[in-house]
Amino acid sequence: MIENLEKLRKEVLEAVESAKSLDEIEKIRVANLGKKGTLTAIMKGMGKLSAEERPKVGAVANTVREDITNSIEQKFSKIKKALDDKKLKAEKIDISLEKHSIIYGHEHPLMKTMKELEDLFVSMGFSVITGPEIESVENNFDALNSPEDHPSRDMSDTFYIDKTTLLRTHTSPVQVRAMKKYGAPIKMVSPGRTFRFDDVDDTHSPMFHQIEGLVVDEGISMADMIGTVNIFIKSFLGEHIETRWRPHYFPFTEPSAEVDVTCHYCDGEGCKACSMTGWSMELLGCGMVHPKVLQNCGIDPEKYTGFAFGMGIDRIAMVKYGISDLRLLFDNDNRFLNQF
Ligand code: DAH
Repeated sequence: MIENLEKLRKEVLEAVESAKSLDEIEKIRVANLGKKGTLTAIMKGMGKLSAEERPKVGAVANTVREDITNSIEQKFSKIKKALDDKKLKAEKIDISLEKHSIIYGHEHPLMKTMKELEDLFVSMGFSVITGPEIESVENNFDALNSPEDHPSRDMSDTFYIDKTTLLRTHTSPVQVRAMKKYGAPIKMVSPGRTFRFDDVDDTHSPMFHQIEGLVVDEGISMADMIGTVNIFIKSFLGEHIETRWRPHYFPFTEPSAEVDVTCHYCDGEGCKACSMTGWSMELLGCGMVHPKVLQNCGIDPEKYTGFAFGMGIDRIAMVKYGISDLRLLFDNDNRFLNQF
C-alpha cells in the first residue's frame, strides 16, 4: 500500500508539473483529492488495515496528501499570475497619448466679487434682496423721482422693451420694490445685472453689474451714510484706502454725492493711471433718500429718513484684481479667468 501511495505521489506531482491550465489543475485536484478521488479512496480503505500497518500507512498518506495539495496550490498561483500578467500587459495604458481632457472652469472673478460684497454687507446687518432684470419704467424711473426729461430716460440710453417695460438701467428700482413690499425700517443690498445703450470699450459694456444699498429708519443721517460707506470701502479694498466725497446730482437722493477712492496703482501718490491726481475713477454714487421717493413707496418722510448707494461691481472687481480692461471679464477666455 505504501508503494501505491508513493507511486501516486510521483504521478500526481508530475501531472501537476506538466499541467498548463487552471482547468487541468482543477481536474487533477478533483481526481485525487475530491470526494471520489484516488487518494480519498485509499484513505477511506485504511480501515481495513491491521492495527500495526495503519499508523505507518496513515503517516505516508498524510505526507502524500500534503505534497499533492501544496503542489496544486503552487501551480495554481503560478498559472494565475502568468494569466494576470498577460492581461495587465494587454491592458497597458499608453500615458504618452494625448487625450481630450475636460477643462474645468471655476468661479468667475465677478461672481466672486459679488459674493464677497454680499457677505460683507450681511456681516454689517444688511439683507440681500434681488429684483428682476426686466423692469417697469415706473420702478426704474418714475418712482425714483426721475423727471420725464431726464437724459437717462432717453431711447439712446436705455433698452426699452415697450413703452412701459425696459431692461433696468440700474439696481435702484429694487429699492422701490423692497420699500413697497417691506416698508420701514429696512436695511438691504441688491446685486444684479444692469443694462445701458453703451458702446463697448475698456470701461464700458451694455451689460454690467451693480450693487445697490438702502437703509431707512428713524433718525438716519448723513453721518450714518458716510460711516457705513467708509467702513465698507476700507474692509473691502484695504485699511489704507481713503475716500473723497464730491457733491453730485441724482434724482432719487438729496443731497447726493459721488465717492472716489485712492488710486490702486500708486496708493494716492499720483501716477499716469490717475492722471497724477492720486484718486481712482468714481466708485459709487450715494445720497439721502429723497422724501418724494419715500412717499412714492408708501413710507412717511416725516417719520423716516434713509440713505442709499449704488456702485458698479465690475469696476470694483477691476480695482480689486488690477484688471485694466472691462472686456476681459466678459470674453470667457480661460487663460485669463484661471488667474483668479
Ligand atoms: N443708480 C445710480 C447709477 O446707476 C447709482 C446710485 C446713486 C444709486 C445714488 C443710489 C444712489 O442708490 O443713492 O448711476
